[in-house]
Amino acid sequence: MGFWKNLFSGNDSSVSDQRSKFRSVSNSIHNSVPNCDGEILFSSDRDLDLYELEELCDSVGWSRRPIRKVRIAIEHSFVVVTMWHKKGSFKRLIGFARATSDHAFNATVWDVVVHPEFQGRGLGKELMREVIYLLRKEDISNISLFADGHVVTFYQQLGFSPDPEGIKGMFWYPPS
Ligand SMILES: CC(C)(COP(=O)(O)OP(=O)(O)OC[C@H]1O[C@@H](n2cnc3c(N)ncnc32)[C@H](O)[C@@H]1OP(=O)(O)O)[C@@H](O)C(=O)NCCC(=O)NCCS
Repeated sequence: MGFWKNLFSGNDSSVSDQRSKFRSVSNSIHNSVPNCDGEILFSSDRDLDLYELEELCDSVGWSRRPIRKVRIAIEHSFVVVTMWHKKGSFKRLIGFARATSDHAFNATVWDVVVHPEFQGRGLGKELMREVIYLLRKEDISNISLFADGHVVTFYQQLGFSPDPEGIKGMFWYPPS
C-alpha cells in the first residue's frame, strides 16, 4: 500500500511523498503542540524496534505481551501508524496504533497509545485521524474498536459511537 500521500490536502498525485518513510504532521498541528521542541512525524513503516514499542506501552501502564506475539500481530495488521518526536538526528517513538481488517469491508483499531509526556496536545486525535485516513483510502467503510471506559469521550469526539443501534461488542475468553 502506498501510504505516503498528503493527509491534509487529499492530493493523491505526489509519488515522491509515497517514497518518503516519514510524513511530517501539518505545520498547523506542529506549531500548536505546546512545549514541543522538534518535529512530530508519522510513519506507516512497521519495521520498528519492538523494545521501543514495549517501553511506550510500559509508559501508560499496559501489561507486557510476549515480543514474539507482538511481532506477529504487527506483521498481520492491515494498517500500522507510528508517531515520532524528532529533535535533531534523534527520533523517539511517542505514539502507536494499528488496525486489523478483512481488506474489504471491516477494520478494527487496536493498541492506541500516546506517551504521557505528549498527551493532551491533540496528538492522539491526529494519530487516530491518520489510521482512519489510511483505512478510508483502502475503501474500508466499517471501522470499529474497543474503548476502555475512560477513553469513550476521546473516541466519540472522533466520530465513533458506542453501541450503534443497540449493537453490543461481545467477548469470549478461555475458561480459567
Ligand atoms: C487515549 C489517548 C491515546 C489520547 O491521546 P491524547 O494525545 O492525550 O489525546 P488528544 O490530546 O488528541 O485529545 C483529543 C481530545 O480527546 C480528549 N481526551 C483525551 N484523552 C481523554 C481521556 N482519557 N478521557 C476523555 N477525553 C480525553 C481530549 O480532552 C481532547 O479533547 P479536545 O479536543 O476537546 O481538547 C492517550 O491518553 C493514551 O495513550 N492513553 C493511554 C492508553 C489508552 O488508554 N489507550 C486507549 C485504549 S482504548
